[in-house]
Amino acid sequence: MSELIVSDTISLTSDPGERVLALYEAIEKHNHAYYEKDDPIISDSEYDALFNELVTLERVYPELQRVDSPTKRVGGKPLQEFTAVTHHVPMLSLNNAFSDEAVAAFDQRVSNFFHANLAVTPSKTITDVFPVSALKPQIEYVAELKFDGLAIALRYENGILTQAATRGDGMMGEDVTANIRTIKQIPLRLKTNTPPDILEVRGEILLLRADFEALNRTQEVAGKKIFINPRNAAAGSLRQLDSRITAKRSLSFFAYGSGELLGGAHFPKTHSALLAWYAELGIPVNDKYAVVKGINGLLSFYRRISDIRLCLPYDIDGVVYKVNHREKQEQLGFASRAPRFALAHKFPAQESLTKLLDIKVQVGRTGAITPVARLAPVFVGGAKVANATLHNEDEILRKDILIGDTVIVRRAGDVIPEIVRSVKEHRPDGAYAFVMPSICPVCGSHIKKLPDEVIARCTGGLICAAQRKQALLHFAQRRAMNIEGLGNKLVEQLVDQQIIQTPADLFRLDVSTLVTLDRMAEKSAKNLVTSLEKAKSTTLSRFIFSLGIRYVGETAAKILANHFGKLNNLLSATQVDLLSVHNIGSTMAQSIVNFLSESHNIDVIEQLRKVGVTWSESSLMATVSLPLAGQKFVLTGTLPTLSREKAKTLLEAAGAKIVGSVSAETNYLVAGANAGSKLIKAESLGVPILDEVSMCAMLDVL
Ligand code: IVH
Repeated sequence: MSELIVSDTISLTSDPGERVLALYEAIEKHNHAYYEKDDPIISDSEYDALFNELVTLERVYPELQRVDSPTKRVGGKPLQEFTAVTHHVPMLSLNNAFSDEAVAAFDQRVSNFFHANLAVTPSKTITDVFPVSALKPQIEYVAELKFDGLAIALRYENGILTQAATRGDGMMGEDVTANIRTIKQIPLRLKTNTPPDILEVRGEILLLRADFEALNRTQEVAGKKIFINPRNAAAGSLRQLDSRITAKRSLSFFAYGSGELLGGAHFPKTHSALLAWYAELGIPVNDKYAVVKGINGLLSFYRRISDIRLCLPYDIDGVVYKVNHREKQEQLGFASRAPRFALAHKFPAQESLTKLLDIKVQVGRTGAITPVARLAPVFVGGAKVANATLHNEDEILRKDILIGDTVIVRRAGDVIPEIVRSVKEHRPDGAYAFVMPSICPVCGSHIKKLPDEVIARCTGGLICAAQRKQALLHFAQRRAMNIEGLGNKLVEQLVDQQIIQTPADLFRLDVSTLVTLDRMAEKSAKNLVTSLEKAKSTTLSRFIFSLGIRYVGETAAKILANHFGKLNNLLSATQVDLLSVHNIGSTMAQSIVNFLSESHNIDVIEQLRKVGVTWSESSLMATVSLPLAGQKFVLTGTLPTLSREKAKTLLEAAGAKIVGSVSAETNYLVAGANAGSKLIKAESLGVPILDEVSMCAMLDVL
């Protein structure tokens, strides 16, 4: 319903005072459309024209500038220090609950407060977790998200934002008005003709995860401090003495409560009505709240939010329950530092502290040696963690991690747990550095690190049991030979007991051998033999992929199968032949040549043919549709493990075009450490930015 307001439609008046007010209104309206609704009405240049006109008018007529002028949003002169602010209504904290039982106890307490003498006759429906009283009316609550940011109080006097203060110790905070004014989501003037004398809005300042990541990239390029998490970054951005810095930080805000309220016609009777009123006044309110009843209503909200938590664009650390009726809230009152009418139901921590006991190395399919942290077991995000990846040697050095250190472990969703950093204040005297072994702990072959690589590798190839296991699992996976029922545990036993040396040996397995293994009953043994038989007939591209040639992912395997038609054509291909294949680059060609020049690899292929593995061959070139066909990529900075040339090869094999400079046509920028102007340009053009891991995930080569 916002109407288009462009410069000339409001320049009809010649009175500068009126014009200034009209500009205030127009600019704030566009701020709201842009920052709140995500639906701009006018172009950026039209917006700039309005803004510049206001700047000029205020310069010519300084007396016309008011405290709620949008020009104040760009930040002003740095402060020497923040002024202290006394909260008229204390800013309290919340009591926390970590279990369903603690939530049930809270609901009981509230319920007993209002209906102490009603009898309890438990009744329960199938979906309910807790039985509820058939006689007692259930309490109505508002369930909200618990934002992981920092609390702020916004004071509106007669509808104009006059003061913003941090929580501080709850009684006194700091005046951060100049900084808050730079947040364009926050109205400088409320959208109403009848504002209350005083309205103190309370809520949370936070950074969206995407804004946090963008901020850290900019900080890194500028060689400045990297923030640990969005909350930290939001706090650092809000507590800036120079509000021009805050203005650049894309802070967000959600209102969830009130402080002082004075001189209004009628203030809302319920918390849900308060939130709805805020929204009408133009104050940002998160829409993921719900009005629910009783303990089962509370818990089902918690479960619903737990499920979508990681999909939200900002961090939350739980949910908050509040008795809906404000009069009831008052009756319940406060106990020391927290209200009795509200409760925070927290999610299990996603980051925990623990002790790093040791660092061992793990050997991957291509021999890559990954240092793995052995930890004193700890619960992180609801799961017990005893191991965490340290990625590579450089990472350990960069994070300054010593064995014996206390470390912060993080788990995000289903991702492998990782160590965020060490806590140096807790470093014990005997802490010592990890040394990359020079000999593979599994097979005794040398470990080598090529000059242009970050990753150290075991040179043992298929002699190495660790590599053999991984190679077999790669061979058997669904996208390769698709051998159903051949999992991790089974491969471990088959290799450890030396039943299997090469993939061809798999097809020689019989039921009588299999039943001797742990957890292998006759039925599963028979099933495995059947699925091995079924897997024997495959396609050429799957067969090529299953060989596990370095850099040859599914897409490259398809290209090779289509190009060469027959396996023998590929086996006899020279480096020059391979390079002539569209989208096969020099790194991949070299890797294929190396693989095929090893007689034991040719041997495996021959054995696989002998045990009856077949695929349809054709001499026709078919067309493959490459996943990144036509997409323009730009590479910049140093990637953690891949050289520029290798990243280029991988991308080209998937059909991407590598171009030198970022423009509006660029589809993706792949950025590594020390990325500079290209990254900044990509950010300003809104070009999606990938790191090495996300690029590899896109290419399916992890
Ligand atoms: S209500 C008197 N609601 O959590 C009630 N707080 O642990 C005061 N928080 O300092 C807070 N989301 O910074 C409330 N939906 C929400 C919240 C919320 C995040 C923060 C707030 C508060 C802290 C208490």
